[in-house]
Amino acid sequence: MENLLKKIDYNNIPNHVAIIMDGNGRWAKKRGKIRSFGHEKGIYSIIDTLNVCKELSIPYITLYVFSYENWNRPKEEVNSLMELFYKNLKNFLEKIHKKNLRIIIIGELSKFSKCIQKNLVFFIKKTRKNKSGTLILALSYSAREEILRATKNIAKRVYNRELKIKDIDYYFFQNHLYTKNFPDVDLIIRTSGEKRISNFLLWQSAYAELYFTDILWPDFRRKDFIEAIINYQKRKRRFGKI
Ligand code: IPE
Ligand code: IPE
Ligand code: MG
Repeated sequence: MENLLKKIDYNNIPNHVAIIMDGNGRWAKKRGKIRSFGHEKGIYSIIDTLNVCKELSIPYITLYVFSYENWNRPKEEVNSLMELFYKNLKNFLEKIHKKNLRIIIIGELSKFSKCIQKNLVFFIKKTRKNKSGTLILALSYSAREEILRATKNIAKRVYNRELKIKDIDYYFFQNHLYTKNFPDVDLIIRTSGEKRISNFLLWQSAYAELYFTDILWPDFRRKDFIEAIINYQKRKRRFGKI
């Protein structure tokens, strides 16, 4: 493991890593268990991942926890996920606070129960001044919804003559997204072998490097995350230049 750390270039640490934590259901099924067993085990992988972020001083990490489209899963699946959030959220967010990480939520929270919303708001406030890094949790998140929401807000301001169309540039648009204060994504990791983005951070990842692994999320550990970072560091990023 320490050999692996020697391969890290500390001058080329990604500023913002985003992870599509996929494969919990398949992980459980392979073990003859119900899907929620996989979701529960996935929490350990999150903790491992956040420890690596601290170790390598990765300033921003976004985790795709629950997509807007995930509300369309069968009722039992949605209910078991909500129960998992309800039972573990406080304890989990307290751990994040102890790691001195700031918590930010992106997504449409109004569909969650009042209790879940209250806990989230409480910890956003409580961790506001934490300095070890920023953990952005994508909950009930859809990139298309985010972009539409920004577009409607901007259109309203144009309609009210507070704004001229010529003032709308990339920077301005970005400032209307949930992620307005955060840097672009440098690296997207997706576990479970699926090679798609599934409506995640479409604007923010315009020039992100993509890393796909067959490992199912509950098996994704410290070593796997460090390997992803090493792989990222070998990429030649050009941003359209030569
Ligand atoms: C990711 O695991 C967690 C959520 C989307 C909530 P899945 O639940 O998608 O697991 P698979 O992809 O069915 O194995
Ligand atoms: C993406 O995984 C969402 C999360 C990991 C939270 P899905 O399992 O929902 O994505 P699809 O349906 O396979 O594209
Ligand atoms: Mg999945």
